[in-house]
Amino acid sequence: MHKDTKIEVIRAAMPAVREHIYLNTGTYGPMPSVVLDAMRSVTEREFANGRITRENYEYTTQLKAAARQEVAFLLGCRPDQIALTRHTTDGINLAIMGRNWQPGDEIVTTDMEHPGAQGPIFNVARRFGVTVRTARLGTGAGDVVSTIARLIRPQTRMVVLSHLTWNTGAVLPLREITELAHRVGALVVIDGAQSAGSIPVNVKELGVDVYAIPGQKWLCGPEGTGAVYFSDDALDQLQLTIVGYASLVQGALEPIGGFFVPKPTAERFEVGGMHMPAIAGQVAALQWLRETVGYDWIYSRIADLGHYAWHRLAELEGVEILTPPDRMAGLVSFTVHGCDPQQLVEALADRNIIVRWIAHPYSVRLSAGFYNTEDDIEHLIEALLTVRSELAKTGRASG
Ligand SMILES: Cc1ncc(COP(=O)(O)O)c(C=O)c1O
Repeated sequence: MHKDTKIEVIRAAMPAVREHIYLNTGTYGPMPSVVLDAMRSVTEREFANGRITRENYEYTTQLKAAARQEVAFLLGCRPDQIALTRHTTDGINLAIMGRNWQPGDEIVTTDMEHPGAQGPIFNVARRFGVTVRTARLGTGAGDVVSTIARLIRPQTRMVVLSHLTWNTGAVLPLREITELAHRVGALVVIDGAQSAGSIPVNVKELGVDVYAIPGQKWLCGPEGTGAVYFSDDALDQLQLTIVGYASLVQGALEPIGGFFVPKPTAERFEVGGMHMPAIAGQVAALQWLRETVGYDWIYSRIADLGHYAWHRLAELEGVEILTPPDRMAGLVSFTVHGCDPQQLVEALADRNIIVRWIAHPYSVRLSAGFYNTEDDIEHLIEALLTVRSELAKTGRASG
């Protein structure tokens, strides 16, 4: 299919991208109509038929298996290495809380991590006396591997970092970092919130141990969905922190005084009931991406459009771009001289252009999704020029 026709077909299935100039997939992706259909049909069925029929039990088991299967395809692993979660942060917590931490153990991380990773890291630091060693990566443009290498030592039990940083949109060199971490026996835990569905990911090739992803961002699924990959080593080493019937082999703990047998697969990190309309929406989104849109096409389209946005912004006087052009995908962070990022985001929203601001480094971030067009970027550029001169006139500009 011709590129423009394909994008038109995709946009026809995503009302949100026609309603707005939607450049904020890094926060929430727009949902295709198949997601609405799937969620609606499961909700209606549950309401009309109830949720306690034998058929429904079979159905939910199959639906969860389908979700694990789709995620396994996306990440290049086996379905039994995937647990379903509610979001990225769940997966990161399961990994970090899964160690029997001892005082003096160390975690190596970076100064580019989202609170979804920072929170669990500092939680174990406070509870168990773990030392956190933070690599100062700036915008992620420099020699990331050497900076992280200097912090890894025998006490390092875990290295926790993003594949694609949420603040400047830099893709970090995971393969090399993983090799260094494994030399001292540390597990590598990856925050895949901005990479899953925006760049190719193969957890086996990267060699990482845990890879946590959301459903609601670049994968265009509903809120409350996510997944996490565990390598076989991680499955051997990580303990359960939250446990329930979904974690245990059937019959375990029954009757009282029975036995505690976690499932042999990553499914043991699941706990109890899930919101099945959301899982149905997640499966529908992933199937649509794989079968109808195509992951290879998605990755190359996002890379092209991200670079297009980068270059168009670079042409504007007074715009400083923080995203390293040689290691980026669909996120571009920038500042406009004389404009406060929060005010800029508000003023763009007034013009129906949806982007967000980032606190560190203080900047505006756009997300170029596979469904966006060059026209969307041009609208943003035009609006930036107008807003900049308006802010200057009203004296609301900052220094
Ligand atoms: C890099 C990164 N990690 C974690 C999160 C939190 O995501 P979730 O809500 O899926 O836990 C985000 C969300 O913006 C993010 O960008």
